[in-house]
Amino acid sequence: MLEQLIKIDKGATENLKDQIKQSISVAILDELIVLDKPIPSSRKLSTALKVSRQTVMFAFEELVDDGYLISKERKGYFVNPSILSGRAMKPSKPKLRNDETSSPQWQQRFTKEPSKQINILKPSDWQKFPYPFTSGQIDPKTFPIAEWRECSKQALNVLAVNDWTSDTLDADDPQLIEQIQQRILPRRGVWAKPEEILITVGTQNSLYILSNLLAGNGRKIAMENPGYTDARNIFDIHFDHVIPQPVDKGGIVVNSQLGDVDYVYVTPSHQWPTSVTMPIDRREKLLAKAEQEDFIIIEDDYEIETNYIEEPVAALKSLDDNGRVIYMSSLSKFLAPGLRMGFMVGPKALIDEARALRRLMMRHPPLNTQRMTALFLSRGHYESLINRLWRIYKSKWHILTEAIERYIPSNEKLPINGGTSCWVRGPNNLDCRILQKLAKEHGILIELGDIAFSQQIKPKNYFRIGLTVIPEHKIVPGIKLLGQLIQDITLR
Ligand SMILES: Cc1ncc(COP(=O)(O)O)c(C=O)c1O
Repeated sequence: MLEQLIKIDKGATENLKDQIKQSISVAILDELIVLDKPIPSSRKLSTALKVSRQTVMFAFEELVDDGYLISKERKGYFVNPSILSGRAMKPSKPKLRNDETSSPQWQQRFTKEPSKQINILKPSDWQKFPYPFTSGQIDPKTFPIAEWRECSKQALNVLAVNDWTSDTLDADDPQLIEQIQQRILPRRGVWAKPEEILITVGTQNSLYILSNLLAGNGRKIAMENPGYTDARNIFDIHFDHVIPQPVDKGGIVVNSQLGDVDYVYVTPSHQWPTSVTMPIDRREKLLAKAEQEDFIIIEDDYEIETNYIEEPVAALKSLDDNGRVIYMSSLSKFLAPGLRMGFMVGPKALIDEARALRRLMMRHPPLNTQRMTALFLSRGHYESLINRLWRIYKSKWHILTEAIERYIPSNEKLPINGGTSCWVRGPNNLDCRILQKLAKEHGILIELGDIAFSQQIKPKNYFRIGLTVIPEHKIVPGIKLLGQLIQDITLR
């Protein structure tokens, strides 16, 4: 019986002993093992599970140490009844009627339905595809495991543990603030005081906090169109008016439409999704317009330092003398998006309110992750990582841009100098959804372009191709095949 409850997966990341421990402890807590009889012997279990007897023995011994089992001499191992004490009793009264009329009408209670928004989808099994032109992910093989391990060990020493086990209510790890202030921001031309920096759970979280703080009372926000889908979705559920502003080869167009807005959200370093960089004169024009019309600029500097043919352009924030730019970025693009490590920079008055609001949401992002990240930055590992990935991405980017020009019909030439993805305009009669489906059947993953547009009737012939996870040697064959599929679809 017990052997049937133990799930073993020899390909799992957890070792066999831990898998056995886990299954037995769950079975004990679910009261699936009788208390007054010994559990099957290690010999019996090892034969049934096809693992070594020693592995089972180790699992039993640790379960004894953890208080799940007790060992009785010459009788075997038994469930320790005290592990089950203090648990809530299963309800004995008959269950209430469970039909349509008695269960809550959830649809009528929702004041927002974010699940209905059109969103970016990234297949989690991209690694199984031969041509994953997925964007926004990193290749786990490039993650600096040894360096991160060393920092996590350091974050576990007694002094560090004293620092991060307490809940600080709303404060961040001062060491991380210092590293961001001294190492990350100056590279972008941004100088900030510690009290002007807030750690967030990624740019997504920064945008959410800001929207929650600044929207309402009929306030208007303008954003690039095409523009970042996640940002639009966040703005849509907070602001009464989200104004789509056209994008050209210099990024967001600065015109009279911006005369009537309170906020403008932009991605100047590499406009999402086109990847064009906003030139300096456009930046100055935008800042002057902000001054003239009294609006605030939200700068999402998500893809720092991925220029391959020109020097990186300093952040818009670096030109901001009057505190009109709220700057945000994260470590998602180079370190790992799964870490959810981001930050926001703005005037102290704004950061104070954002911090107070963040406290209501989550108090603060986990302090152990903040400390590990601080250590990682302080040892210079982040700069080395950027340099290493920059070389890899640069090489892939040249191959990718050339392949697109050669094999994708009817591509529009944009003045791009880098980024981690390419925005492609296919022939006018291309439907990116049909292409995405067909491409997937041929092992190619691409990202839909229509999700970037705000209008009801969206252009269908755009799509995005990411370069971060695709192996370099797969780029040309993948793009060639994609080009053929586009021809097949559009010349039908
Ligand atoms: C435009 C834009 N902003 C921000 C981010 C990063 O978001 P986060 O920091 O929440 O991972 C991305 C990630 O793909 C992005 O495309």
